[in-house]
Parts: sequence; structure tokens; C-alpha cells
Amino acid sequence: MSPILEPNTLDFISHSELQTHRLGARLGSLLESGDVIALIGELGTGKTRWVQGISKGLAVTDRVISPTFTLVNEYNGRLPVYHIDLYRLTNAVEGMSFGLEDYMYDSGVALIEWADRALDVLPDAYMVVELYHLSETRRRVVLRPYGPRFANLLKEFKKRTFAR
Ligand SMILES: Nc1ncnc2c1ncn2[C@@H]1O[C@H](COP(=O)(O)OP(=O)(O)OP(=O)(O)O)[C@@H](O)[C@H]1O
Ligand SMILES: [Mg+2]
Repeated sequence: MSPILEPNTLDFISHSELQTHRLGARLGSLLESGDVIALIGELGTGKTRWVQGISKGLAVTDRVISPTFTLVNEYNGRLPVYHIDLYRLTNAVEGMSFGLEDYMYDSGVALIEWADRALDVLPDAYMVVELYHLSETRRRVVLRPYGPRFANLLKEFKKRTFAR
């Protein structure tokens, strides 16, 4: 990996699904009560792989699969984990009716796929994980923190990932 180390974002390449899983697990191990991770990227860019890695890092032992008939799956790890997938969200009203905001302001951790469909209701502080398809096995990953909590989290993540 050759990361671009700007102060406020981290822009790097994941070279494999396994690497994504490990990076996700590292991020998950750093999460705390109330944290929100917003995953943004086209179909098949690895949002669910990130959620699976993050859940592993949060000590979730259940198999994590995308919610299909519901918009959210709940897991219990070191903290409650809410895996939310807004792909099928048609409008903001629907988002409110299933309690999207309640999940984001809960003491658990909210991991939100297709978070770009609900930017209006995201809290002030959260971490964006932006994903871009580069090739069959490579994904560009951009981590963008919003709010001081996530700026610090990103610093810690960088330290653990790129320090030698
Ligand atoms: N470096 C990589 N990181 C993550 N996934 C990768 C990588 N390289 C290849 N893949 C593959 O890309 C696919 C990612 O699927 P995943 O379900 O995580 O995407 P998604 O963004 O959640 O899609 P959807 O929008 O349908 O929910 C998997 O088939 C995985 O094997
Ligand atoms: Mg998915």
C-alpha cells in the first residue's frame, strides 16, 4: 500500500478481499459506543466486506450478511452492531419510519451501506468509507472523518496500519 497521507483523509488501495477484511477488523477494533460508519460506493465495491471486517473487529461471532427484507440486521459483539443497508430505501420518510435515526443515535455502532441515500439524516460526527472499483481485486478506499472523534480515530487507524 502506498497511502496518500493527508491530515484529514486517508486514500489508499486495498489489493484483495482479505486485505479489506483485515483493515475492516482493525477499524472495528477501534470503534466505540455510538460510532457511525457511512459506506459509500457502487454495487460490488466491497461495502459489505467492510461491514464484515468491522464486525469481526467488534467481536461479532454471527455470520454477517446483508439485510434483504429488512433495512437493518442487528448483531451483538463487544457493542451492539446495526448493519443498515439503504439500497432499497426509496425516500427519507421511509428512513424515518424504520427508525434510522434511532439506530444512529443509539449506544451501539451503526454501519450504513449506501449512506449517500441518507446524508440529510446522518449525525454531525461519523466516518465515511468511500469505495471505488479499480480492477477485479483492487479497490480504492478513501476514509473521510467528520468531527473530532473521527479525526482522532483516523489518526489512530493510520498509526496502526502504516507505522513500521
Ligand atoms: N479488494 C477488495 N475488497 C473488497 N472486496 C473485493 C476486493 N476485491 C474483490 N472483491 C470482491 O468484490 C465483491 C464485494 O462485494 P460486496 O458485497 O462487499 O459489495 P457491496 O459494495 O456491499 O455491494 P452491494 O452494493 O451489492 O451491497 C466481493 O465479491 C469481493 O470478493
Ligand atoms: Mg452490500
